Amino acid sequence: MAAKVEAWGSRVGLILAMAGNAVGLGNFLRFPVQAVQNGGGAFIIPYLVCFLLMGIPLLLIEWSTGRFGGKFGNHSTPYILDTMAKGRVWKYIGVFGIFTNIAVAAYYCYIESWTMSYVYHSIVGTFDGMSQADVAGFFNSYVDISQSTTGIPYEAVIFYILCLLLNTWILSKGLGGIEKVAKIGMPLLILFGVILAVRGVTLGTSGASDIFPNANAWDGLNFLWTPQFDSLANPKVWLAAAGQIFFTLSVGMGTIHCYAAYLKEKDDVALNAVSAGFMNEFVEVVLGSLIVIPIAAGYLGLDWVIQNAGFGMAFQTMPYLFQQWGGVLAILAGVFWFGLLFFAGITSSLAMGTPWMGFMSDEFGWSKNKGAWSFGALALIMGLPTVIFYNQGVFDQYDYWAGTVSLVVFAFLETVLFSYIFGINRGWEEINKGADIKLPKFFKYVILIITPLLLGAVLVSSIPDWVNQIKNNDTNNKEWFADNYFAENFEGSGAVSGKVIEVKSDYVKFEFEN
Ligand code: PHE
Ligand code: NA
Repeated sequence: MAAKVEAWGSRVGLILAMAGNAVGLGNFLRFPVQAVQNGGGAFIIPYLVCFLLMGIPLLLIEWSTGRFGGKFGNHSTPYILDTMAKGRVWKYIGVFGIFTNIAVAAYYCYIESWTMSYVYHSIVGTFDGMSQADVAGFFNSYVDISQSTTGIPYEAVIFYILCLLLNTWILSKGLGGIEKVAKIGMPLLILFGVILAVRGVTLGTSGASDIFPNANAWDGLNFLWTPQFDSLANPKVWLAAAGQIFFTLSVGMGTIHCYAAYLKEKDDVALNAVSAGFMNEFVEVVLGSLIVIPIAAGYLGLDWVIQNAGFGMAFQTMPYLFQQWGGVLAILAGVFWFGLLFFAGITSSLAMGTPWMGFMSDEFGWSKNKGAWSFGALALIMGLPTVIFYNQGVFDQYDYWAGTVSLVVFAFLETVLFSYIFGINRGWEEINKGADIKLPKFFKYVILIITPLLLGAVLVSSIPDWVNQIKNNDTNNKEWFADNYFAENFEGSGAVSGKVIEVKSDYVKFEFEN
C-alpha cells in the first residue's frame, strides 16, 4: 500500500485533466476524416445520437464505477470491477482496461512524436518554399524511418523515444504532474484552435488558384454541416459514428475509471462527467471541423478533400497550405497547429499510463517512478513494430484492434455489469451521490435498456468488419492530385518516386514509393 493516498489537487485540475484525457488527436485528426468519409452532414446525426445514448451514459457509468472502486483503494479496472460483482471473471475482463491502454499508447505516442518533430520543422523553416508534393514526400520519407529528411538519421525513432521519455517523466510525478500539464496545455490548445478556426471560417474563396479555381472554404463547412437523413439507414455510418464516440470520449479504455478512482466519496461525478463530455464535444465538433477541412477546401477544393480524406492530411497537406500565408504567419500557423496537436496528444497519452501505474501500485506497492518507467518500457516494446513497419500497415492494425474493437467489447461488458449485476438501482444511486446536478430519470432507463442494446447491436454488426480487417491490409501512402498540378510538379521532376495508380476526371492518384 502506498504511504500517502493520492488525490486530485482541485476541481479545476480534475476537470482539466479529465477533459485533457478526452480531448486528443481523435478530435482533430480522426473526427474530420470520419465525417468526410461517411458523407459529411450524413455523419453528424448518428454521431450526436451515439453521443447522447451511449457516450453520456458510459461516462456516467465509468466515473461512478471508478469513484466506487477508489473507495476500496482500487485504481485500475481489474480490481474496480472486482469490487462490483462476485466471481473472478470480472477481474480478468478488467485486464482489458490496462492492456488496451498500453497498446493504444504505443501507436498514439508515435503520432504525438510527429507533432513534436513538426513543431521543430515549422520553426526552422523546413517547409519553406516546398511544393505540395515535396511536403507530402517529406512525410513519406519521415515515416520510412531509414530515409533521412533533413539530415537527422532515424529522426522518427529519435522523436518517438523523446516523446515516450517525456511522458514517462511527467507520469513519474504522479497526478500533480498530469494536472500541471492539463492546466497549461488545455488553455493553449483552445487558444491555438480558436485562432486557426477563425482562419478556417474567414478564408472563403481567397485561397483559390489557377490550379484549383473553385476552391472555397465554405464548401468544406457546408459539406460537414448540411444534415442528410438518408444515411440513417446505413449501418456502416452508425458503426463509424459509434466508434468515433468511444474513441473521442476515451470510454471503454479504463482511463476514466482510473482518474475517477482518485476522487473522494462525496465528490460530484454527475456534473463533472457531463461537463468533461461536453467540453470534448465542443472541441471536436466546433474546433475539429473548422480547421483542416475548411482550410484544405479553401485551397484545394472540396473534391480534393473528399478524395484525400485521411489522417495524413494533417501532416502531408497542412504545412504546405500554411506556406501560402508567408513568412512569420506560416511559422506561427505551423507552431499553433502542431502545438495544438501536441497538447491534445500528451494530455491523452498521460491518461493511458495511469491504469498500469495504479495497478502496480495497488497490488505490488510499486513507486510512481517504477510504475512510470515500466509503462514507458512496455509502450516502447509494443510501439517499435508500428514505428518500424509503419508502411506495412501495422499501425492501422493497432488502431483497429486496440483503439476500436476492444473499446466496444469492454464498454458492452461493463454496462451489463453496471446495470444487471451491480444493479441499476445501486448504480443510479452511485451516479447521483454527491451530484451537483439533478440528472433526468430518463437516463436511468437509457442506461438500463438502450445503452446495452445499442452496444450489443454495434458489437454484433461489427463482426463482419473484423473478418474483413483480418483479410485486407491497406497502406496509406496514396494521394490524389489535380492532373495539371501533377503534370507541373511531378512528371519529369524526378524528385518524387512512385506511380500513378488511378485516374479520374481531372485527378490522378499517386502512390508514393517507400
Ligand atoms: N480520447 C482521446 C482522443 O480523442 C483518445 C483516448 C482514448 C485517450 C482512450 C485515452 C483513452 O484522442
Ligand atoms: Na476526444
